[in-house]
Parts: sequence; C-alpha cells; structure tokens
Amino acid sequence: MNNFNFYNPTKIIFGQDRLNELDTLIDQGANVLILYGKGSVKKTGVLDKVIAALGQRKVIEFGGIEPNPSYETLAKAVDLVKAEGIDFLLGVGGGSVMDGTKFVAMAAQYDGKNTEILLRSGVANATVKRAIPLGLIATLPATGSEMNSFGVITHNAAKYAFSSPHVFPTFSLLDPSLTFTLPAIQVANGVVDAFVHTVEQYVTQPVDARFQDRTAEGILKTLIEIGRKTVDNPTDYDARANLVWCATNALNGLVGAGVPQDWATHMIGHELTAMFDIDHAQTLAIVLPSLWRIRTAKKHDKLLQYARRVWDIDEADEDKAISIAILKTEEFFESLGIKTKLSAYGVEKNHIENIVDALKKNGRDSLSETGDLDLDISRTILNHAY
Ligand code: NZQ
Ligand code: ZN
Repeated sequence: MNNFNFYNPTKIIFGQDRLNELDTLIDQGANVLILYGKGSVKKTGVLDKVIAALGQRKVIEFGGIEPNPSYETLAKAVDLVKAEGIDFLLGVGGGSVMDGTKFVAMAAQYDGKNTEILLRSGVANATVKRAIPLGLIATLPATGSEMNSFGVITHNAAKYAFSSPHVFPTFSLLDPSLTFTLPAIQVANGVVDAFVHTVEQYVTQPVDARFQDRTAEGILKTLIEIGRKTVDNPTDYDARANLVWCATNALNGLVGAGVPQDWATHMIGHELTAMFDIDHAQTLAIVLPSLWRIRTAKKHDKLLQYARRVWDIDEADEDKAISIAILKTEEFFESLGIKTKLSAYGVEKNHIENIVDALKKNGRDSLSETGDLDLDISRTILNHAY
C-alpha cells in the first residue's frame, strides 16, 4: 500500500425528514446565501422548506447555476456575497450547484484574480488560503461533491477542476427522498458517475490495498444490484438510499487512499462535455470501455480482479474473462439508458482530431495512473469509442 494522508471533516446528516435540523447546523447569527440551480428546488418545494428551516437568519438567494457551472454565473454570486456581507453559503442541488458553491466560497475570499483559482488543482491548493464556510443539501447522487474538496467549473469552453481543503463542506444533508423527483436519465447518470469514480481508483495497478479494493468492490456490486432498480422505481427509498451512500463514498477519499489513481476517463470526458455538451456521466460511459480495451495489457491484473470479484466471472482464460467483464460493464451502462458510443451523441468522426487538439491545449497529454497515456493513445481510444 502506498503512503497516504486521509482528511475528511464533513459531517453527514443522512436520512428522511431532516431538513429542520439545519437550524442546529448553522449559527443563529449567520448571514446565509442559498445557492441553487435552474429551478428544480423551487418546483419540488425543497427551497421553501430550507428557507423555513433557517428561521430568523438573514437569508439571500442566488439561483440560476447551470449544469456544468460557468465562471461567469458564479462571478455574479461572488459579487453578491461581498456586497451583502454573507458569511455562510448553503448549496442546494446537484454536483453543479455544489461545485459552484465551493468556487464562490473560495473566490469571495481570494486576493488575486479569481480565474487563477481555476488553473489546475495544484495551483488552487497552494494559493487558496481560506474560504467562506459552506454546507450542502444534495439533490442528485453522483459526483460525491457533498463530501469532498473538489469542483469542476466551465470557463471559455473548457472544464477546470479545482481542489482545496478549505472547501470541504462543514456538513452535507443527504435525504434520498429529495432525489425522487429526478428524471430517470439523471439517476442513470448518477449510477454511472459513481461507478466510474470507483473504478478510476480501483482498476489501476495492484498495491495490496485490500480494504480499499474490497470497499471499491462493495460499491461496484451495490451499484450493479440497485442501478436499474432505482432508475425504474424512483420512490423505492432503500434502493435510492444505497445509491446516495455509494455515490458519496465513491469519491470522499476512502477508496482512493494509498492506491494509484487513473482519472484519464474523466479528463477525456471533460473535453467531450466542453465541446459537445454531453452530460458528464455519459462522457464516462463512452470513454471507459474503450480505454480498458486499449489498456488491457497495462491494467491486466486489476481488470482480472474486477472480472472475478465484481462480475463473478470464472472463465479460466484470463483475457477472455477480462473482455467479458468489459462487455458486461458496457451492457450495464446501456441497460440504464446510457449510450456508450460517441457516434450516438451526434459527434462526427472528423471531430476526433478537435478533441485531441483540446486535450493538447489543456495539458491533458500524459494521463492515467502511470502518466503514459499520451495524445496518440487518447486518439486511439476515441476512435475505438466511436
Ligand atoms: O438546475 P436544476 O434546476 O436544479 O436541475 C438539475 C440539472 O438540470 C437537475 N436536478 C438536480 N436535482 C434534482 C434535479 N431535477 C429534479 N429533481 C432533483 N432532485 O439535474 C440536472 C443535472 O444537475 P447537475 O448538478 O449538473 O448534475 P451532476 O450532479 O451530475 O453534476 C455534474 C457536475 O459535477 C461535476 C461535473 O463535471 C459536472 O460539472 N463533477 C464534480 C465532481 C466533484 N465535485 O467531485 C466530480 C465529478 O467527476 C464531476 O466532474
Ligand atoms: Zn465524475
């Protein structure tokens, strides 16, 4: 097992009918800004309940954060925070709202130009010294943003990931029933995103990290068991509760501690979202199976472990077992209603070169757990995924 630091200070409040507890989680004298998306929280009535739970506190709203939140929108929230003396941010929504809330928290207390925060997570770690405290109410189980220090912001048609220990939420309220109103496709997206977060930290190189491996396998098997069920039966509380807790644990640092991490699927996927507006999880479903097929030799040991332990494949021929496991993964994504071929999203084959150019421009030319996934390999993966 590799050396690691593990730090995760986020308090989780999990379960039904717990919105009233907001009153005990936020200081009585706080000036609160509630951030939300394009309106789902208004339609579902969640926003009204949140405002009621905040009682006499000074509360201001900032709505309109779009999927794949844009720097320009969030800059307006930063101005509002400064003008109104806001000292607590409450994000209510999916990953886009949660990430956006984290960005506003950093940017409102940042001394330099806010765009600097976007320029790579390493830079953010070093330059962000503080942030406004924030809490989150997650309405979409997918990204894990509710219990991590990451975010992804769109600026000038590119996606920038940031990370700072200052934006761990102080608390996140996870009520699975708040997600019942999600359209089926967003639930399917959530299953796929949580699945791919797990495998980006598991299907790499073996380092005898047994707890992390068994935990990852537990998350993957659970997602396979409840994935289709929770898409088809949106109000089945137990199935949805399992999705919510899997999504959170897939990216809160636990399964990734002390193990190699890949993230190439995510990096290539971000270009597909930036260029063609394909939902985040759908980009992952496109890239992952092809990446595994092209990189089978490199990932052989962990792919075989994945085949044996996650899909229970006992085929003696190791390469056959691996290809069956990859096929089953693809079929699983498709069974949820998520297409796994680039051509299914209206992308022309001759656009692949533009995607490779974007990878180059954004410095994504040495990806994967071994840093050797260069632009030529990305091109091969994209052609294979077409
Ligand atoms: O905007 P509203 O009206 O709220 O509607 C949203 C949006 O249209 C809707 N929605 C959310 N909760 C709902 C609901 N509709 C009905 N009922 C509810 N309860 O769902 C749509 C999608 O929301 P969005 O937040 O964009 O989706 P998701 O949670 O998948 O987040 C995607 C973003 O997260 C980033 C992605 O890059 C993308 O920008 N990621 C963040 C990560 C992190 N912070 O660790 C890691 C991930 O790999 C990912 O990159
Ligand atoms: Zn993701």
